[in-house]
Amino acid sequence: MVSRGDKELLLGQRGCVLWFTGLSGSGKSTVACALEHLLHERGHFTSLLDGDNIRHGLNKDLGFSPEDRTENIRRIGEVAKLFADAGAVTMTSFISPYRADRDLIRQRCRPGEFLEVFMDTPLEVCERRDPKGLYKKARAGLIKNFTGIDDPYEAPVDPEIWVACFDQDGRQRSPLEMAQQIFDALDD
Ligand code: PPS
Repeated sequence: MVSRGDKELLLGQRGCVLWFTGLSGSGKSTVACALEHLLHERGHFTSLLDGDNIRHGLNKDLGFSPEDRTENIRRIGEVAKLFADAGAVTMTSFISPYRADRDLIRQRCRPGEFLEVFMDTPLEVCERRDPKGLYKKARAGLIKNFTGIDDPYEAPVDPEIWVACFDQDGRQRSPLEMAQQIFDALDD
């Protein structure tokens, strides 16, 4: 067996799971993508799991009932762990609304391997952005069980990395600023 340690030695980094969580429209994918660029430019081996490559493929049999969301997150957690075992800095970008589901993945990971990244963007900001027009549809009752509207979002209590939407002057922070914050936290 080629051990995980051997792989990490070859890559010059430690595999980990950066678990982005937050409401739809909170900036998870945008910031994860910006962070992946920062890491890649500095020679790190990365992987990004998001709706585009998971919900349309591996998990295309799943919807948005509580059971399906739990299964969605469970499978993504297992895949993320495999990537981390191969030494990749692995980012996942899913609402992952239920605390128990996120905690289960944390427990499946090695100590220090799982880093929860909370995109703390208030519902009103996400709803104003509404990039896919889904909040509008949810408010109109055209989409049921929409997170934040008629389905719960259980915010992290003690995330490793807390990403605030606003700076001290009340200005909305840019995706690059937020990505840099996470990069610096990883560096530490
Ligand atoms: S979950 O809860 O973690 O399983 O959800 P996730 O896999 O991240 O998928 C969220 C994206 O799917 C779209 N969508 C919905 N979101 C929440 N609730 C309901 N009912 C729903 N139906 C569709 C929505 O565009 C989410 O996109 P993001 O990228 O998060 O904005």
